[in-house]
Amino acid sequence: MPIREGDRVYILLEDGRDYLVRVEQGKSLGTHLGNIDLGELPGREFGEYILTTGGKRAFLLQPGVVENIFHMRRKTQIVYPKDLGYILLMLDVKEKDRVIDVGLGSGAMCGALARLVGEEGKVYAYERREEFIVVAKRNLEEWGLLDRVVIRLQDIEEGF
Ligand SMILES: C[S@@+](CC[C@H](N)C(=O)[O-])C[C@H]1O[C@@H](n2cnc3c(N)ncnc32)[C@H](O)[C@@H]1O
Repeated sequence: MPIREGDRVYILLEDGRDYLVRVEQGKSLGTHLGNIDLGELPGREFGEYILTTGGKRAFLLQPGVVENIFHMRRKTQIVYPKDLGYILLMLDVKEKDRVIDVGLGSGAMCGALARLVGEEGKVYAYERREEFIVVAKRNLEEWGLLDRVVIRLQDIEEGF
């Protein structure tokens, strides 16, 4: 699939260092193995590699749930993929499910749930601190999942 302006690209350098960037003209990514001109990415294919100015390979990949979580903005502790995998399997979360997420925080768990429930599912996320909702909303919007989530600024001691 070709990379387009505005796409988010997971860049994996040949030594294992990684970055998550948005493709924008006039922007460049500085790394310890050289720079990458992000304006040169449109038209390249996901899965290809390009060379940094230092002559090192940089693989251009589509970010998945795990890359999104490891590179997300966060204001709280988050649930990490190692635990997420177990939780999601135990809950048997699948397409079209309607799920409650208690303690939205920065949105890692919520994003993973929203991804699994699909376009026809819904996640109802409760959070009692508004400043965390602001961060989580930005993350979910960036991942293209915000429309699957209903966010409530509410302490769950008041019920669901
Ligand atoms: C560790 S963070 C959650 C991390 C989040 N699930 C993630 O994966 O990014 C815990 C969150 O739960 C919220 N929280 C704790 N008790 C709550 C309650 N009674 N009602 C609503 N939110 C609560 C906190 O404000 C905090 O944002």
